Amino acid sequence: MAVTGLFFLRTAYLRRHQSYFPFSFLSLHTTGGLQSQRSVPAPPAVAGRGVTLKADRRKRASAANRASSPEHLKRRTRSGVEFDCDLYRRYAAGGHVPVMFCEVLEAFRLPQLRSFVDCTLGAAGHSFTIIEAHRELELFVGLDVDPVAHEKARARIEALLGDGSREQMKAYIHLRNFKHIKSVLVGIDENLLNVGVDGILMDLGISSMQVDHFERGFSVLGDGPLDMRMDPQATLKAEDILNSWPEAEVGRIMREYGEESNWQLLLEKIVAARKKGGLHSTGEFLDLVRKSSAKCGGRQGWIKTATRVFQALRIAVNDELQTLENALYACFDCLSSGGRLAVISFHSLEDRIVKKTFLEMIKEEQEEEEEDCGKDIMCLMNDQSLNETQIWSKQKIIIGRNGTILTKRPITPSEQEEKLNRRCRSAKLRIIQKH
Ligand SMILES: C[S@@+](CC[C@H](N)C(=O)[O-])C[C@H]1O[C@@H](n2cnc3c(N)ncnc32)[C@H](O)[C@@H]1O
Repeated sequence: MAVTGLFFLRTAYLRRHQSYFPFSFLSLHTTGGLQSQRSVPAPPAVAGRGVTLKADRRKRASAANRASSPEHLKRRTRSGVEFDCDLYRRYAAGGHVPVMFCEVLEAFRLPQLRSFVDCTLGAAGHSFTIIEAHRELELFVGLDVDPVAHEKARARIEALLGDGSREQMKAYIHLRNFKHIKSVLVGIDENLLNVGVDGILMDLGISSMQVDHFERGFSVLGDGPLDMRMDPQATLKAEDILNSWPEAEVGRIMREYGEESNWQLLLEKIVAARKKGGLHSTGEFLDLVRKSSAKCGGRQGWIKTATRVFQALRIAVNDELQTLENALYACFDCLSSGGRLAVISFHSLEDRIVKKTFLEMIKEEQEEEEEDCGKDIMCLMNDQSLNETQIWSKQKIIIGRNGTILTKRPITPSEQEEKLNRRCRSAKLRIIQKH
């Protein structure tokens, strides 16, 4: 199959960004984008103080610029945890680097972490750090829908436990969707749901292992089938959506999941392609996107469009948003009293769901009157019960009836981590603790 410009695109892309990172992390939803364009109202002029006024205006303008720049907005949420270069080098050498692993360690720095569930094993990087850091751990459960990740994680954890020094710890590695967390835990021990687990981690999105293999169809940088299934047993593929779903649904996906403004033109081209036998490879689809975007924005424009539309298709193929919302409630139910759930998301649609669902979860389970909602939630600065050294101690927490949100704003990676691993740029960590 001829794929115009794919090789060139990959090379140019690598050169620009120096290191390879997957399309899903090229998220375009920067939190500061809109604010930075806002104009600042000029203060009223006072006669006779021209020089001072000019200086004042300059000062105010530069303060306003600073306040609205994406970097400033990011600084408000940047992690205060010291970046561990040695640990990073250890993971970087292994190929797949877990993001925000120092922050994840902090999130589960509890008096005792006896049981832990990693809902998204991947290459087991986060699991590895948690198991190593918590000698008291008695139960480890790991889940992933991808058999490649499952196998890699299983081998890695087996090797870690192979020296027999952790005989008190039982490990269960399951090839399951995290939406089934409750039945997995009940299957391990019927009493587990009553006792609850002390820590649960979700590191959303796809792994480098998935995106690097073009035959999985996730990458905008190479040719492969239009697949995008995280679970190869699932029946729906990206090509089914593009070639057979109702036009209105395909449009909605690009608009809502990809936040793509050029969706109508793309939809027209997709419908036209259906009449000629449909789209069957990522290369063909990328060509279509490139030709549809060529007039507005050049190469950068069409790469960004492709990234957004690929994200949209991937979300639809794997039903990611609904699965996430349901699984967040299930995970919260599985926590012990004092247990914590930490979620790393990579785009604004996911983060919005995590933020909204956390707020819902800490309220009473019973429906409340609209005007009563929020009465039981109060914001506190630096709750005394939280360890001063913890990453969220710099920001507000939100206390509800059922739990405490430890991150009123999400935590974003440190500058140092961002420099070393551009893949983490759009990561946002939110943590909740059950009462
Ligand atoms: C970003 S990777 C996780 C990387 C991992 N934290 C590490 O340190 O190596 C996300 C993983 O979650 C898996 N995944 C995504 N959605 C899932 C779901 N609903 N259930 C189980 N696993 C899922 C993907 O297959 C992928 O392996």
